[in-house]
Amino acid sequence: DSPTSRPKLKILLAGPRGFCAGVDRAIRVVEEALRRYGAPVYVRHEIVHNRTVVEGLEAKGAIFVEELDEVPEDGHVVFSAHGVPKSVPAEAQRRNLLYLDATCPLVSKVHREAERHFAGGGPEQRHILMIGHAGHPEVVGTMGQLPPGAVTLINDAREAAEVQPKDVDRLAFITQTTLSVDDTAEIVDILRTRFPNIVGPRREDICYATTNRQMAVKELAAECDLVIVIGSPNSSNSQRLREVAERSLAKRALLVPKVSDMDWSELDGVKTLGMSAGASAPESLVQEMIEELSARYDVTIEERIVKEENINFRLPQPLADAV
Ligand code: F3S
Repeated sequence: DSPTSRPKLKILLAGPRGFCAGVDRAIRVVEEALRRYGAPVYVRHEIVHNRTVVEGLEAKGAIFVEELDEVPEDGHVVFSAHGVPKSVPAEAQRRNLLYLDATCPLVSKVHREAERHFAGGGPEQRHILMIGHAGHPEVVGTMGQLPPGAVTLINDAREAAEVQPKDVDRLAFITQTTLSVDDTAEIVDILRTRFPNIVGPRREDICYATTNRQMAVKELAAECDLVIVIGSPNSSNSQRLREVAERSLAKRALLVPKVSDMDWSELDGVKTLGMSAGASAPESLVQEMIEELSARYDVTIEERIVKEENINFRLPQPLADAV
């Protein structure tokens, strides 16, 4: 094929996209544990929500499990980036497992906020409303920092409008880190209007990576016939990116885990294609998609970087001493 015989396709590449500092660190924790202790290293839950990452680590000797009872005595186990309820390290200690915590420091920060509001259950204690999605491991982990009943989950604006706390003057709110910035602003507004004495972060607890990736997709969506977000269906921030693209006037937006999952008929009639990737999706998946697109189309690529990121998190103890 000469390039001219192929249809033209303009690709607008969102920046920043893909790996955040928390995901990068979590993967390094597993790799460093494998290097230091040898295989197998057990990982409780997908280290980050991406099959390609999980399979890559499995090939190096990681074994993924859902619960600690699947880890043998004297095994090494890593907790995923999403964070875990307090009961999990307690159980690991009880069983003398050697554990490493790959919880993203920005999730741990929310854990500590929750504990501060709870104030040890003393007279300063506030009831906490957590804005987040039921069942997501981050929400399970954050709510699990405190005893049952200390936190009420608010899934959406309707629940924010209907929640009936016992003492409206002793309330606090926290949020999941990977939510839609716009939806969360609306929910926080409802809470602040209904409960003027509620305390919480200035805006929400959404992390820099989620915020920046949504901002970058918004910037280009309106020009696109289709936006492809590379990411896994169980990745919260990837799902939100797809929604943000659609709401920001992209004609259509798709979540595609990897190039082999692509239904190429989706590209019929597409002249401008936007691309981004969730915080757990490796850049190699974006590049593979671009390679495949380049074989089928006469592509031009324009990268739109709305913000530079240079955040790096150190490895947790005891791995930090090793490198
Ligand atoms: Fe952490 Fe945000 Fe990434 S909370 S794991 S930096 S998406």
